[in-house]
Amino acid sequence: MTTRGEKFYEGKAKILYATEDPALVVQYFKDDATAFNAQKRGTIVDKGVVNNRISTALFTYLEGKGVKTHFVRQLDDRSMLVKRLTIVPLEVTIRNITAGGMAKLLGIEEGLVLNPPVFEWHYKSDALGDPLINDDHILAMKWATAQELAHIRSESFTVNDALKAFFNQRQIDLVDFKLEFGRAGSAHQLLLGDEISPDTMRLWEHGTRRKLDKDRFRRDLGSVEEAYQEVLRRVIGEAGQPSAARR
Ligand code: TYD
Repeated sequence: MTTRGEKFYEGKAKILYATEDPALVVQYFKDDATAFNAQKRGTIVDKGVVNNRISTALFTYLEGKGVKTHFVRQLDDRSMLVKRLTIVPLEVTIRNITAGGMAKLLGIEEGLVLNPPVFEWHYKSDALGDPLINDDHILAMKWATAQELAHIRSESFTVNDALKAFFNQRQIDLVDFKLEFGRAGSAHQLLLGDEISPDTMRLWEHGTRRKLDKDRFRRDLGSVEEAYQEVLRRVIGEAGQPSAARR
């Protein structure tokens, strides 16, 4: 039995609650959506329920591929039990196709296939807009050790290979995604944390390139809820099977 205790952190999309076990916390998913460093705010109906289920499915899948994550188990519609982490103040982005920040940064079009994929470190700071940094910034600022960087990088590529294959079987291109890692327990074991959902990935339908992610909200493309539900259907449905709604 896990009882939800005191709220100790509230972010843009999630809330963290203590439990009776100091090593475990409840991660609760909200419907709130933000974009452009929280300048744009809104609600995506049932996003919390959908992202909780998608994250649960993807963490479970990745654990099966040998990736160590903070996920313990799903608790209810909007919450999962996770290991308490001290978050490393870095965001990893891996890009398989140009979009978003990279297209803007380099003045290039969206939709170019990147081979090899592009790995980026960003410093996790809302105030600074998560700036792009390199290994030397991280080592000089002692945000992580060289050993930790190597581990995060190799785990991130394992995640990319696994998720690319997973979504490919579901007729979706994994364009890019963001990961966060943290240290658990006194041994400071590095675990994949946060969430993996259409809030933190770009997903394009094969062939049509229809966007099935938060870009529908960011760019006012409409049918935001439908896109999240479509991803959920494909994630929990059988690989290779078209979802019921599209049959
Ligand atoms: P990126 O193109 O760097 O930024 P933006 O979303 O502003 O265009 O985003 C790359 C991927 O990482 C994309 O799938 C969204 C995700 N992401 C987050 O989940 N959180 C963030 O704070 C940022 C900057 C990106």
